[in-house]
Amino acid sequence: MTQHVLVEKAEKVLVLTLNRPDKKNALTRPMYKTLATEIANADTDPDIRCILIMANGDMFTAGNDLADFAAIGAATSAPKPEDGNPLLPVLASSRTPIVAAVNGRAVGIGVTMLLHCDMVFVANDASLITPFVNLALVPEAASTLLMPLRIGHARAFEMFVLGEPGGAEKAVSWGIANRAVPPADLHRIARAAAVSIAARAPAAVVATKSLMRDGRAMLARLSEEGAHFVRQLKTAEFKEAFAAFSERRAPDFSKFG
Ligand code: COA
Repeated sequence: MTQHVLVEKAEKVLVLTLNRPDKKNALTRPMYKTLATEIANADTDPDIRCILIMANGDMFTAGNDLADFAAIGAATSAPKPEDGNPLLPVLASSRTPIVAAVNGRAVGIGVTMLLHCDMVFVANDASLITPFVNLALVPEAASTLLMPLRIGHARAFEMFVLGEPGGAEKAVSWGIANRAVPPADLHRIARAAAVSIAARAPAAVVATKSLMRDGRAMLARLSEEGAHFVRQLKTAEFKEAFAAFSERRAPDFSKFG
């Protein structure tokens, strides 16, 4: 069976490669579980000092698998805490530095997860898009807290509510990414950065990362966002957005009020 997340350990770096290119690396529950387990375990693995997240295929990720969202929306029972995305609390609590290499498009959680990464490299033809409101959803991954802090309210609101794609240059100038690099060099440059981080004094790196992040605030925001998210998945406006995606047409929200 194809592994949708490839796991490799080399030079004290844990490399997690999204590997579902036929579905544009859309993230399924088993993929989240693998990512969550590997990232959580890295914190206690003495052989790992940095994590690199990258992707095979022509894009980083098309975001959450929309069929999974629709299944939660269609379920008749109330969602249980264990139905929540297992990756999000792990990203909010992770102590190991994370580097991301973004090729092609990053959609939804493919963008919001970057706010939990410590260095981000984007291919110079990459584009970032957060179409949460276009899908009648709300942003997740504590991004309603982290994105305005990172880029300012006005830009964050534009990204979340208008959901238009932004290029690599904008990602760098707004502070979402460190550097835009030629696509052919992306993985090599990101890997070299991860190896370089892994060579630094480990306790100092871990302490620096944890001093820079407020885990408690992120976990609290995750649970607030989760409640809104699940509520939205049950709405008629989400059903319209999902039907529009499946039928490859624009959604029509004119009848909701
Ligand atoms: N969930 C599930 N399947 C997805 C997906 C997603 N988020 N994104 C893409 N796919 C699937 C498509 O359904 C298609 O499957 P098929 O070949 O069985 O029909 C396959 O991946 C290729 O996608 P396609 O749309 O043909 O590729 P594209 O290059 O024309 O467009 C995107 C790529 C990312 C622009 C487009 O697929 C898209 O908008 N996806 C939805 C993104 C999204 O809204 N994510 C959720 C964010 S919260």
